[in-house]
Amino acid sequence: MSLPEIDLSAVPAHVACVMDGNGRWAERRGLPRTAGHEAGLDALFDAVDGALEIGVQWLTVYAFSTENWSRPLEEVRFLLDFNRATLRARRDEMHERGVRLRFVGGRDRRLARSLLREMDAAAELTAANRRLTLTVAFNYGGRAEITEAVRRIVAAGTRPEEITEDTVGANLFSPDIPDPDLLIRTSGEYRLSNFLLWQSAYSEMVFLDVLWPDFSRRHLLKAVVEYQRRERRFGGLDQ
Ligand code: FPP
Repeated sequence: MSLPEIDLSAVPAHVACVMDGNGRWAERRGLPRTAGHEAGLDALFDAVDGALEIGVQWLTVYAFSTENWSRPLEEVRFLLDFNRATLRARRDEMHERGVRLRFVGGRDRRLARSLLREMDAAAELTAANRRLTLTVAFNYGGRAEITEAVRRIVAAGTRPEEITEDTVGANLFSPDIPDPDLLIRTSGEYRLSNFLLWQSAYSEMVFLDVLWPDFSRRHLLKAVVEYQRRERRFGGLDQ
């Protein structure tokens, strides 16, 4: 897959990724599952390079779901520490490339204060960057996000007849992020797994039969070419 096959005037503004298959990638090599997450991180940064190359403006990745707490304690701990260490190690490099880092998800007590501080520091450092916004969904669940939005709307005393879809959208974790145009899931699974439930109503979905650690910018380009082949009608008819 080469760059010329991509129509650079029709690149999806927002690409979202379910980075699935790290565990299986590791198990097939006789490695601990955590080695799969380490390799998955390299794949993520390769995808970031690809996104920068073709001009994707928003990239959102599912790094830790609300369901991931039920994994073995050792793996959960690894993912939490890994995120913190990665942020410290890579945020300057992301900043130099013009990447704005964002985090969406529940900031509950299970997350160490040091991790939250690291997330806030990275977001603050990169806040003015506009080339690409990399949003990391961490302790994220789509249903939890919508539930939280409902709580906020009720707490604000909004009358039922005043509530519109825009009201719900405005109360999500990051209301200024546009809906994903393209949603990619790797590892040959065909599920959303509670990712961006509200925002993906009209996203084009591309499922790739590659385990996330083997994902690279080449797969991103492949998914974008597939996206560009599809017609997006948003529930309407062709003009
Ligand atoms: C799903 O694969 C992947 C995860 C639960 C973690 C994804 C995290 C990364 C790629 C690291 C990125 C981290 C940061 C700091 C942004 P799986 O474990 O469910 O794989 P399996 O389905 O084969 O078991």
